Amino acid sequence: GASSVRVDVYVKPGDAKRALRAEALEGLCNTPKELSPKWLYDERGSQLFDDITRLPEYYPTRREREILLAHAGDIARLSGADTLIELGSGTSEKTRLLLDAMEEAGALARFVPFDVSEAFLRRAAASLAREYPGISVHAVVGDFERHLGQLPGGGRRLVAFLGGTIGNFKPAQRALFLRELSAGLQPGDGLLLGTDLIKDRERLYAAYNDSAGVTAEFNRNVLRVLNRELGGDFDPDAFEHFAPFDEENAWIEMRLVSRQAQTVWLSTLRRRVDFAEGEVLRTEVSCKFRQAQVEAELAGAGLTLTEWWTDAAGDFALSLALK
Ligand code: AVJ
Repeated sequence: GASSVRVDVYVKPGDAKRALRAEALEGLCNTPKELSPKWLYDERGSQLFDDITRLPEYYPTRREREILLAHAGDIARLSGADTLIELGSGTSEKTRLLLDAMEEAGALARFVPFDVSEAFLRRAAASLAREYPGISVHAVVGDFERHLGQLPGGGRRLVAFLGGTIGNFKPAQRALFLRELSAGLQPGDGLLLGTDLIKDRERLYAAYNDSAGVTAEFNRNVLRVLNRELGGDFDPDAFEHFAPFDEENAWIEMRLVSRQAQTVWLSTLRRRVDFAEGEVLRTEVSCKFRQAQVEAELAGAGLTLTEWWTDAAGDFALSLALK
């Protein structure tokens, strides 16, 4: 029969704007300047990220898909889950690979997409309910730094956090996130975690500084977001995209570098923001990992690594960890 759809809303449309205002006051008026990567993903930014996933230099999405194609059946069997909870994006091909495998294993009962965008999530929930008749779809509109405690309980749950998005957290935030996630799980529940792996710096650099300039446009788009949401007058062309690999922290750091000394006015905040020539605004870190480190961090949160899969080239990994 038809699927049931339920949507729980913990984040309201106005919340994002308030949060951006607070963060911009902190992050743009201090030195060094920094914004969190979540502001990169308005509608245009999400489209640009989608374009990035198809660039020849950007390997993570293709590698993760390769691993899922090879191991979705193993994931369904080893997790024994009847509920798939997906943190972030709930419409992708990856989601369907997992749902299909769980369905084939005869276990699929419920899908819980968790995302910060209500409009996006409602569309995703409706189309997945149509495609998987008979399962219940329980969407949660939330921020995974604040609302992990609201994940619906019951059944045997597998939480998927794919794409390497965990790399956007710095180590302390990451430990907190994993602890909070783990605290909400029951024995037997699992986590499927996608992580990009440390590799030679040329390939890492190329993946975040593509020759077509799509990543540069994606990065500069955050300035358009600030212009729209905070009444700013940023000239995006006055900033250069640069995303070096920081060996010490093992992360790619996306930067916008001011091409000249300039002053920007943010009318909503009634603030001017001064940039020196060459001054950096950091817009993202994207951490890269090794197996031992992922295993140790999971263990630190009370999760046991049970399987570690990589693509044939060893570029990207999926971990299955159980509580
Ligand atoms: C969506 C966070 C996984 O870090 O590789 C792509 C975002 N930034 N190119 C990543 C991103 C620049 C991406 N994640």
